[in-house]
Amino acid sequence: MFLGSGKAVPERVLTNHDLEKIVDTSDEWIRERTGIERRHIADDKLTTSELCARAGAAALQDAGITADQLDAILVGTVTGDAKFPSTACYIQDKLGASNAAAMDLQAACSGFLYVSTFADSLIRTGKARYVLAIGGELLSRIVDWTDRATCILFGDGAGAAVWGPAGDDGRGIIDTFMKSNGKLTDLLHMPGGGTSISMQDAINARMNYIKMQGPEVFKAAVTSMGEAATTILEKNGLTGDDIDLLIPHQANIRIIKATAKRVKMPMDKVFVNVNEFGNTSAASIPIAIDEARKAGRLKEGDLALLVAFGGGFTWGSMLVRF
Ligand SMILES: CC(C)(COP(=O)(O)OP(=O)(O)OC[C@H]1O[C@@H](n2cnc3c(N)ncnc32)[C@H](O)[C@@H]1OP(=O)(O)O)[C@@H](O)C(=O)NCCC(=O)NCCS
Repeated sequence: MFLGSGKAVPERVLTNHDLEKIVDTSDEWIRERTGIERRHIADDKLTTSELCARAGAAALQDAGITADQLDAILVGTVTGDAKFPSTACYIQDKLGASNAAAMDLQAACSGFLYVSTFADSLIRTGKARYVLAIGGELLSRIVDWTDRATCILFGDGAGAAVWGPAGDDGRGIIDTFMKSNGKLTDLLHMPGGGTSISMQDAINARMNYIKMQGPEVFKAAVTSMGEAATTILEKNGLTGDDIDLLIPHQANIRIIKATAKRVKMPMDKVFVNVNEFGNTSAASIPIAIDEARKAGRLKEGDLALLVAFGGGFTWGSMLVRF
């Protein structure tokens, strides 16, 4: 069952007009093609674990759970503090979660749905009672600020949710759907810094940045998010009419609208904050959950459909009675 949420974003805001001074672009082009108006960007000293710990602490407070009650901290991120150990371990220390297992899971922008699915599995099988699921990214650290096709899209942020045992009132994670296609890894990736291209070679060849084939990713995102949304609805005998709020991954307003159209949901039942944060990858859905709740758009008892898509490719969906 969902117990609480929290978010944390850097204070510094980078507007489309600020970007006009960095690359050859315009506010009008960015807004028309993506719906993004601004994004939050970390200063040099901030780490992913620090931002995630802030979001996690807010979620714990919201849930009324103390850090030492956590059995696990699961973090979706592609921009961890270090290659290893996991960012979850840094967060475990920062929160003082003395009884928690900690690990990262990498599913790019689908990261939060993936970690929440595993949180749910741990809880259902009795291996855990309370799990902190976090999606957090400092994408600004791996964005090529000379590439106008990518640098306008991404932002920094973290969002968190505390999951606990299902209540007997039907509230909780009702179903999840996850899928991947590794044939398309090259369309959206940061190729350097792993075992295939060393960090030194990557720096020399500018491979230590996000590389993306925008139009191809766009088409795959529309198809996959549509599939994820319709599959889980059909499997559970539901339609868009039964859903109180659609919370899609916030990558691009046109992808969000196409997803809503596939499940025949009007935009007033779709949560959108891509204008404010840009694409924060794994953080986008938990940030949206937190904002939707605080804006009164997502209330206790509401049925929400969460849908994500990301590099890999990975995609998935989740039905949650909040
Ligand atoms: C990136 C994206 C906004 C580009 O929009 P698009 O309509 O596909 O645009 P294209 O890439 O075809 O480029 C169209 C033109 O705009 C130009 N352009 C690209 N970025 C630009 C920018 N920031 N400002 C101005 N012009 C830009 C291109 O150079 C191209 O010019 P040309 O026609 O003279 O060659 C769009 O493809 C997209 O959102 N893709 C999905 C990305 C995504 O969500 N990734 C994360 C998934 S989790």
